[in-house]
Amino acid sequence: MSGLPVRVGFLACETTLPGSPIRRSDAFEHDLQVAALAPALAAHGIGMVELDWVGPLESFTGIELVMIGTSWNYQDRQEEFLTRLDTLAARGIVVCNPPEVVRWNIGKAYLRELAEAGAVTIPTLWPDAAGPEDIARAFDHFGCDRVVIKRQVGAGAMGQEMFSRAAPPAAGWRFDRPAMIQPLQHAIREEGEYSFLFFDGAFSHAILKQAQPGEYRIQSMYGGSELAITPEAGQVAAAADVIAKLPFPAPLYARVDMLRLDDGRMAVIEVEMIEPYLYPEQGPQMGEMLANGIAQRIG
Ligand SMILES: Nc1ncnc2c1ncn2[C@@H]1O[C@H](COP(=O)(O)OP(=O)(O)O)[C@@H](O)[C@H]1O
Ligand SMILES: [Mg+2]
Repeated sequence: MSGLPVRVGFLACETTLPGSPIRRSDAFEHDLQVAALAPALAAHGIGMVELDWVGPLESFTGIELVMIGTSWNYQDRQEEFLTRLDTLAARGIVVCNPPEVVRWNIGKAYLRELAEAGAVTIPTLWPDAAGPEDIARAFDHFGCDRVVIKRQVGAGAMGQEMFSRAAPPAAGWRFDRPAMIQPLQHAIREEGEYSFLFFDGAFSHAILKQAQPGEYRIQSMYGGSELAITPEAGQVAAAADVIAKLPFPAPLYARVDMLRLDDGRMAVIEVEMIEPYLYPEQGPQMGEMLANGIAQRIG
């Protein structure tokens, strides 16, 4: 304990909180983010505590701002999560990112809105459900040989499938929830996927995530790896353009994930503004940037 007045809560969950008997093996990401943020806040005279987002409301007494950190179990309890954020906001707690930003960001339909606003996105079909005929149509629609189908509400590549004309889905295959179908972008295997971190709209750092040979998913679960990079100015500008096209002011934190289209342009694959991993090790200034934004919000 720093002895400083605790004014900020870092929202976590039972599988990420330190000391939990059911802690996930990847909860070290929680520790790295806390280790980046807590000392930076302390330099502002602000104490921070890690809190279970489902914890009793009394645990939020005295808290002026919460940052959604590693509430990784919210995926299965979205309504409860949104209600909790609303409840905290109604108690006068500054919620970062705000509930309306979280609501906008929870389903990937926001990518349509960004595309309409002129952002470069991956061409996408949006069926409410899909069968083999939708995949067959997608090959023709996009004029491609491989497509990816994924959930409109999802993360970590869960439920995602890839099909080729040579290996289409079986006759009885169904995708039973709102889906997105996209042509598989070659760049994912040849170059990788970029993440650009922004704090209050200011660019902080970038990383390149690469899949292991033979795989197209860059997630560490599938053997992917990441490295810090110094992006070209044009790449940062492309990511900043996505931030500029959000229908609200740039939030405290945002991660713009991008990959290169065949024509060379950088396209947004997703913008994470709920609980993105912020890659603190690749951006040593991240804690300070976040702490400045937090201090501004609570005076
Ligand atoms: N159209 C695509 N082309 C190439 N790779 C893709 C495509 N869509 C998804 N992927 C791969 O699958 C991963 C997960 O997809 P993504 O859209 O980021 O969803 P989420 O991370 O929310 O599960 C990406 O990081 C990428 O490796
Ligand atoms: Mg992703």
